[in-house]
Amino acid sequence: MIAILWAVIGYLLGAIPFGLVITRALGLGDLRAIGSGNIGATNVLRTGNKPAALATLLLDSGKGAIAVLLARHFGGEGAAMIAGAAAFLGHCFPVWLGFRGGKGVATFLGTVLALYWPLGLVACATWLAVAVILRISSLSALIAAASSPLVALAMGRPALALTVAFMAILIFVRHRTNIARLRAGTEPKIGGKG
Ligand code: G3P
Repeated sequence: MIAILWAVIGYLLGAIPFGLVITRALGLGDLRAIGSGNIGATNVLRTGNKPAALATLLLDSGKGAIAVLLARHFGGEGAAMIAGAAAFLGHCFPVWLGFRGGKGVATFLGTVLALYWPLGLVACATWLAVAVILRISSLSALIAAASSPLVALAMGRPALALTVAFMAILIFVRHRTNIARLRAGTEPKIGGKG
């Protein structure tokens, strides 16, 4: 019963579409009609408003982290994993947007940072290193997501590896169109038009 409560709280936190809220509040138009149409920070950057993109990144990752920290404080480590995974699901499938949400990367990073910060740091560093070298947001996300379960296992955290693997698989599913563009060599660079 308590597990369901944390799943609901995590989901509702994760379902807040900060990219849409921020871009609407700033009069930047409907994000879903811009660039890739995604509601995440990478697409907010395509509006040309860097502070809005940074705010989206911080809030989308922060909601995952807050879900985990709240659940851990009141319910322990199992509750934290449930709330984190639920926040991630909420971002990808928000009830407010007819379950058509984002690709989950920022929420994944925030959730993982709060679940086990050494793994979160490795995931963020992996994302950043690939982004700096190749300047392709989706590829950075896919590599960071794919490597995270293996890193969790190497760190001796099998339960965490399972939770992270669940999110990583969904990140790949949510990046289907990006993967097709990567294969075709047409995926835009960070800051470029999507
Ligand atoms: O975080 C989402 C990113 O990996 C891809 O975003 O807008 O290029 O599809 P986008």
